Amino acid sequence: MMRRSVVLGTGSALPRRKLGNEELARMVDTSDEWIVERTGIRNRHVAAPDETTSSLATESAKRALEAAGIDAKSIDLIVLATATPDQTFPATATIVQNELGCNGGIAFDVAAVCSGFLYALGVADSMLVSGAANRALVIGSETFSRILDWEDRTTCVLFGDGAGAIVLEARTEPLDEASNQPRGVLATKLHADGQHNQLLYVDGGPSTTGTVGKLRMKGREVFRHAVTNLTSVLLEVVEAAGISTEEIDWLVPHQANARILDATARKLGFSPDKVVMTVDQHANTSAASVPLALDAAIRDGRIKQGDLVMLEAMGGGFTWGASLIRI
Ligand code: COA
Repeated sequence: MMRRSVVLGTGSALPRRKLGNEELARMVDTSDEWIVERTGIRNRHVAAPDETTSSLATESAKRALEAAGIDAKSIDLIVLATATPDQTFPATATIVQNELGCNGGIAFDVAAVCSGFLYALGVADSMLVSGAANRALVIGSETFSRILDWEDRTTCVLFGDGAGAIVLEARTEPLDEASNQPRGVLATKLHADGQHNQLLYVDGGPSTTGTVGKLRMKGREVFRHAVTNLTSVLLEVVEAAGISTEEIDWLVPHQANARILDATARKLGFSPDKVVMTVDQHANTSAASVPLALDAAIRDGRIKQGDLVMLEAMGGGFTWGASLIRI
């Protein structure tokens, strides 16, 4: 009897402060027009000093637990994806665990930058399917504003802060009642290619400079690799799940740049109205962007139970991955 991870609920959180393109254009040499045309971004949220990766993660987790209608105490696994932890250690997941009051289970962080949520989902799903845990919180949370070079217009306009979370529960042979089709995480594929690790990186760290460092990126090269890698991993997941791309109801991509989303969707023949796009509202929130977009589309009623949803992301490393879920 096969165990599968079923999504019980989703939640998200954004910092209070919004930073629009016009305001940003008063800080660096850029314009609303340039940012919108090249990226589709109009707004991002920036964490205040009292808002941290763990506080945003905790808020998003509480909302996901509420949507799932379950008590935090029943969570026995927290996998938190972040590249901007509160501290070098302990893992931010342990801080969230303590805030939620579900101490005693498994809690750790995953570092795969913008693909972090897909990696965290893949790891949590494997642990639920294997029986290592029964109920998991999978969280992506970031405060990239703390690692941006606010004088570098080629990067600081692209990123924002936020968090998203989902609650997964292991069930035996779960079926969607309406369609009688298998429910839950159906297939996940993850990849990394370390030869590109200097195209998108942070120029500091505990073991090299002893500092936190700032984000650096060769944007044009990242763009090129993103479309190729995302298209191939999506097709790989479709094949592993034994479905056709036409059966997919929603594509929930990593929200890096509207042009990458459009190009990937076009290559795969997805109509734009099947693609969830939130990058205009919160820019690239790295590991938080996929669960933020998923939560937005579930809350506004676009994604419903029984829908076949493809999640995908690509990030520094390079790392990339995709996961097919029947909600
Ligand atoms: N405002 C105004 N001008 C800007 C600018 C900004 N914020 N940032 C860069 N420019 C300028 C450049 O200096 C350059 O000027 P030049 O031609 O005089 O040298 C010009 O705009 C074009 O720069 P280029 O980097 O070639 O632009 P682009 O069309 O490749 O767009 C990105 C830049 C970053 C938007 C694009 O490459 C991209 O989206 N890459 C992927 C990034 C990404 O999503 N990374 C995260 C993946 S997880």
